[in-house]
Amino acid sequence: MEDQVPAPNAGDYPNLNPSLATFNGLFFSPNSEKSNDIASGKFFFAANAMSAFQNSLVPPANRTPENKQALKSGSVERGAKVFETANCATCHIPPFFTDNKTHPINEIGTNSARAQSRLGLNKLLVEPKLYSFDTTIPVSANAEVLDLPTKGISENSTTLPSGILPNGGYKTTTLRGLYFSAPYLHDGGAAVREGSLKVFRDGRFQVVDLSGLGLTGTLSQALPADPASSLRALLDRSLREKVVGANKLNPALSPEHSNLDGTGHEFYVDSQAGFNPQQQTDLINFLLALDDDPANF
Ligand code: HEC
Repeated sequence: MEDQVPAPNAGDYPNLNPSLATFNGLFFSPNSEKSNDIASGKFFFAANAMSAFQNSLVPPANRTPENKQALKSGSVERGAKVFETANCATCHIPPFFTDNKTHPINEIGTNSARAQSRLGLNKLLVEPKLYSFDTTIPVSANAEVLDLPTKGISENSTTLPSGILPNGGYKTTTLRGLYFSAPYLHDGGAAVREGSLKVFRDGRFQVVDLSGLGLTGTLSQALPADPASSLRALLDRSLREKVVGANKLNPALSPEHSNLDGTGHEFYVDSQAGFNPQQQTDLINFLLALDDDPANF
């Protein structure tokens, strides 16, 4: 902690004022006075290096025979069209499949508990300021301080981003690497165990094992959630209802305990939304193929 530098205008540790630029009042920066500090450098060096590293991370390709077959048969390509027709791309914008925006909870409708976590900050925010990028460490008394523009982010410079107010919200998740990140939604509630569904050739499906539905049938028993079946639970409202039902029957998942249910994100691709079972399956295959360079591995 002693290596961190308080943002200008944000007080001194531990009495820090959060701002839109820094929720906890701190900018991370190494103390470049230490000759053996491998992260030693100019102000923001460590934050920039960490961002560059994170930008370089790519999800591994989905090398399963199912994905190879779905690519070969044209199902993935057809699924891309369904993705477009179903308006998924309005929020999950390619190539990163996110709009990098926080959407209000009223719009997304998923379990609201965690969406509200930052609302208390709204009363505490101060004007966001930044040292100029050529500032060196230790910061001198006459270092240049810049005002951080917040137009388009929030109503004014000391209110939380508009997607968060007034009731909280969730950021659009990237869809890259979905094959590796089941179960789905921030609470992991869209979860189905492998073998719980029987999928027919024409894309229709049937639940054959009710005990595999929800977190109750998966992570609660330390069993993995199956990516394809869990995505089907996200996209098909009749299956989702059963999955949410299974979650709600589990006292450990109740609002008094962990508050995980898999509700919301009601952007369905099912018969009621005008899609046939084959289109639903094609969309799932498309979603499972998304990585840094789909179809190339
Ligand atoms: C209005 C914006 C919006 C639209 C339209 C939308 N999504 Fe989302 N999506 C989100 C947000 C926000 C989340 C995160 C919600 C959460 O975790 O509570 C999300 C989460 C997801 C997830 C879970 C990702 C994970 O890792 O847990 C998947 C999969 C997904 N969306 C697919 C789709 C598909 C397919 C469509 C179209 C049928 C679609 N979305 C339409 C905003 C949107």
